[in-house]
Amino acid sequence: MIVLGIETSCDETGIALYDSERGLLADALYSQIDMHREYGGVVPELASRDHVQRVLPLVKQVMSEAGIERSGIDAVAYTRGPGLIGALLVGTAIARSVGFVLGVPVLGVHHMEGHLLAPLLEEEPPEFPFLALLVSGGHTQLVDVAALGSYTLLGESIDDAAGEAFDKAAAMLGLDYPGGPNIARLAQQGREGIYKFPRPMTDRPGLDFSFSGLKTFTLNTVAAADADGGITEQDKADIARAFEEAAVDTLAIKCRRALRQTGRKRLVIAGGVSANQRLRQKLDEVVTKEGASLFYARPEFCTDNGAMIAFAGCRRLQAGQRDEEGMNPMPRWPLEDLKPVEL
Ligand code: KG4
Ligand code: ZN
Repeated sequence: MIVLGIETSCDETGIALYDSERGLLADALYSQIDMHREYGGVVPELASRDHVQRVLPLVKQVMSEAGIERSGIDAVAYTRGPGLIGALLVGTAIARSVGFVLGVPVLGVHHMEGHLLAPLLEEEPPEFPFLALLVSGGHTQLVDVAALGSYTLLGESIDDAAGEAFDKAAAMLGLDYPGGPNIARLAQQGREGIYKFPRPMTDRPGLDFSFSGLKTFTLNTVAAADADGGITEQDKADIARAFEEAAVDTLAIKCRRALRQTGRKRLVIAGGVSANQRLRQKLDEVVTKEGASLFYARPEFCTDNGAMIAFAGCRRLQAGQRDEEGMNPMPRWPLEDLKPVEL
């Protein structure tokens, strides 16, 4: 089965063709980051308008790269939610129209399930069951994955998401949006142990996260450094490093706790923040000590992309799932509400 995947939940238009037999055939991405940068974050109305412009040219591009004609597409998968409603509506409308014209089934996919399954596109995919840490710009969740589509939420952020914390800390340091990769780059010049940031909520039992305290701590540290003769580039790098270490440690402590609690031997990390090198290194240490293994996607499939939607959609379409009549994007959509996939 060859599935066309369409991702338009936020500020990236991602399109891909995935073949259940041959794997990923082609994928293409258009990032709107340059457009949103001057506003310091995503402007929803601009995002929607831009998706309208990008989807069809990218669909044509992946079809030509994969050497697939219209008649070769067996189904369409698109991101139904969660995400920005206008952006989701664009993907939904186009996917439904393409499905109607081609006379093929269409299925709306959960964006976070897409992220969660993205590591399965790699050469040595994790087997089920596993524990998953989903860390994106909008979500920070620890999920027990018993099987495909069978998700139990073990913990989540009670305030900011991990990626959001990176983005806000970056803005405080005068770095561009999206802040995660910029913080990581600056942190490489930072010295160890100059600043000591808190590890929020790690001294309490449970698997929930909190990142707003880290944000306030960053703000106060920047203000203090500024008051103390003006903040220097080295100060900024030291703060970026201390922030990144604290955010990574906080995530790692909860992952270790969740591994012990569930007894799972595989940890999958997914979402934009899973591209972070320090996080990967730290979790590698943690899983090794716990006798478990770590899995993640290649960096371009950690952030938003069409391949993960084509892949997740393909698994569900193969199991016979299809959209009902009418368009029904879901800006809010708990992962636990998904139907298990029975093959
Ligand atoms: O999954 P994603 O592309 O979009 C959402 O679904 O939200 O995640 C985007 C988030 C942003 O907050 C970005 O700053 C963060 O992922 N991010 C990173 C890195 N690359 C992207 N955070 C830390 N380190 C990175 N290398
Ligand atoms: Zn995402």
